[in-house]
Amino acid sequence: MAVLYALFHWLPHALLLSLCVIFVAFLGYCFYIKHTHLKYDHIPGPPRTRFLGNGLVTARNHEQWYKQRRIMDPAFSSLGLMSTFNERADKLMDKLSEHADNKTVANMLHLFNCVAMDIIAKVAFGVELDLLRTSSPFPKAVETCLKGMCYYVRDYKPQNWSYINEVREACRLLRSTGAQWINQRKTAMQNGEDVPKDILTQIIKSARQEESMGKEDEEFMLDNFVTFFIAGQETTANQLAFCVMELGRHPDIVEKARKEVDEVIGMKREINYDDLGNLTYLSQVLKESLRLYPPLVGTSRDLNNDMVIDGIRIPGGVTCVLSTYTACRLEKFFKDPMKFDPDRFHPDAPKPYYCYYPFALGPRACLGQNFAQMEAKVVMAKLLQRFDFTLVPGQSFDVRDTGTLRPKSGVPSVFFSQTENTVPPCDVT
Ligand SMILES: *[C@@H]1O[C@H](CO)[C@@H](O)[C@H](O)[C@H]1NC(C)=O
Ligand SMILES: *[C@@H]1O[C@H](CO)[C@@H](O)[C@H](O)[C@H]1NC(C)=O
Ligand SMILES: *[C@@H]1O[C@H](CO)[C@@H](O)[C@H](O)[C@H]1NC(C)=O
Repeated sequence: MAVLYALFHWLPHALLLSLCVIFVAFLGYCFYIKHTHLKYDHIPGPPRTRFLGNGLVTARNHEQWYKQRRIMDPAFSSLGLMSTFNERADKLMDKLSEHADNKTVANMLHLFNCVAMDIIAKVAFGVELDLLRTSSPFPKAVETCLKGMCYYVRDYKPQNWSYINEVREACRLLRSTGAQWINQRKTAMQNGEDVPKDILTQIIKSARQEESMGKEDEEFMLDNFVTFFIAGQETTANQLAFCVMELGRHPDIVEKARKEVDEVIGMKREINYDDLGNLTYLSQVLKESLRLYPPLVGTSRDLNNDMVIDGIRIPGGVTCVLSTYTACRLEKFFKDPMKFDPDRFHPDAPKPYYCYYPFALGPRACLGQNFAQMEAKVVMAKLLQRFDFTLVPGQSFDVRDTGTLRPKSGVPSVFFSQTENTVPPCDVT
């Protein structure tokens, strides 16, 4: 009897106590999510330290974004882009002819990554990296950070700690490099030196509200530094690698593209801006490559108000995720969607209507769209001008998602110099 009584007496207390414990645990969990996962960047992965922050791509506040965009826009028109594209692409060609002479396999994704990073470092930040000749921790750090943004790992799992640390270190490396380069530039500006009107200068301008710069302004500059460093490099390299992967499987398309390159550029070494406009078929090839393999699968938009689309009501306040990758692989929008067919983008063909957006659409479309397309075209034109290539047999044609889409195999290829129209070596011109 006494036992029963005690049980009835204590049961409500025990229940209440466990409810309290659950509630406190829940609060703790909320804090963990808020302070560890949502503190920066609103991403699930483990950078856990400020990564892209409020930079041009990830800024959520419209005013804040608009102000930056206005300042950044001119940086892309006033750059001496073509000479850098040519010079860096030539370095890649030298590397490829070494591979051809040595009869060694070239990992195209790796090589394109080096070139694209060289280009962005030079035109955006005025820094010479020369990654094809010297090794550097940057390419790996970028890859690690991007992966970190899409792998779901949990801080309470000890198995994940070393990985989380690795991502955090990679992120720190990029930001501390940014801080160093920004400081060098600021010093040069203060000393009244003639500095290039490049992205680095604009980044400094966009942060400077008053004379003195606070901690937040510094961090904000680094957000943009990392944003441009990554956006200017990774996606273009992936696009080029996918393009080589598809060309390797379609000799007829290679032949047609090479014929155009021969007509437009011939044996000329320096490709100029007007030539790019004449390479229409090569443009189609690159666009088709972005259709099947958009390095960024899509984009997202916050809806402020309720909307009705196609009879479906979407409540305001939600974030819509839009996928160009999915749309471009639907029969509904592209006939025989899995076929690689550059003629879909023939100048006379109907334009895809809101189902193809590798650079997003609208005011927040990619700022570097033209930059990326010009760069890709220069590199591909030179490659076709000078080499034949075959893919190493047995490689996978799968796509890997590591924050951006990239070819899983890395596209190992074998190169042959085109002996019939030999271009003079670099130092002759
Ligand atoms: C080609 O061979 C030379 C001489 O052995 C070597 O120095 C060079 O690094 C090799 N290059 C490639 C890309 O394999
Ligand atoms: C995180 O830990 C889980 C096991 O709890 C493991 O399966 C997973 O591979 C780990 N992830 C990384 C990226 O290390
Ligand atoms: C290239 O375009 C220019 C006009 O921009 C034109 O004058 C020229 O003939 C074209 N060249 C070729 C080879 O198509």
